[in-house]
Amino acid sequence: MTPHDLQAWLRSRRSTRRFAATPVPADVLARVLETATYAPNAHNRQPWRFVILESSESRMALAAAMGQDFAVALQAEGLNAEQIAAQLDRSQARLLEAPAAVLLCLDASVLDTYADAGRTQGELAIAAQSVALAGGQLLLAAQAEGLGGVWVCAPLFAQAAAQQALGLPESWQAQAALLLGYPAGAPKPRPRRSVDEIIRRV
Ligand SMILES: Cc1cc2nc3c(=O)[nH]c(=O)nc-3n(C[C@H](O)[C@H](O)[C@H](O)COP(=O)(O)O)c2cc1C
Repeated sequence: MTPHDLQAWLRSRRSTRRFAATPVPADVLARVLETATYAPNAHNRQPWRFVILESSESRMALAAAMGQDFAVALQAEGLNAEQIAAQLDRSQARLLEAPAAVLLCLDASVLDTYADAGRTQGELAIAAQSVALAGGQLLLAAQAEGLGGVWVCAPLFAQAAAQQALGLPESWQAQAALLLGYPAGAPKPRPRRSVDEIIRRV
């Protein structure tokens, strides 16, 4: 691959939300997860953890746990019961139907702690940045295998419920669900801001 080809390949990644029913082979998923672990990360602490949601029971448990918190948030936004039920059904169906699903977590137990609250908060932020880099690399590794994927942020808003529903260690904080599978159709490219708009030379 030339540098030009590689740039074009990187730019061709899309969030895929519709998947073919074809399962994702275990060895393919294992490769994708391993490549994700090569992401840059603060202090090489590798705070990412991957919960592979293999059974429909675990997906149902996670969906139900997230649904409770999501319903409260939607109610606060002024949605009525019917609208809330429709949204919950949609997000539950996405989680249940994805050929592969990984809950991306941050393991707070490997972080440094400081007497200074600001520093401790900063450490948590850089750990979240590290986990996000692994998530991004995971999506690219999936693309290299012909898979598509999408980052779903809902678990971040239901960390305690997700932890309890899946019996995760207390230090594992859910950051996102990554849904993966072979794409059903080509997702439309989303527009990007021009580079001129987003850079400032100083
Ligand atoms: C932190 C983050 C949170 C996201 N949350 C969601 C989500 O909850 N649901 C969803 O369908 N897509 C979600 N996405 C995907 C974005 O909508 C998508 O990346 C963006 O619209 C650009 O489209 P593209 O990925 O196809 O280039 C998320 C992406 C990121 C990085």
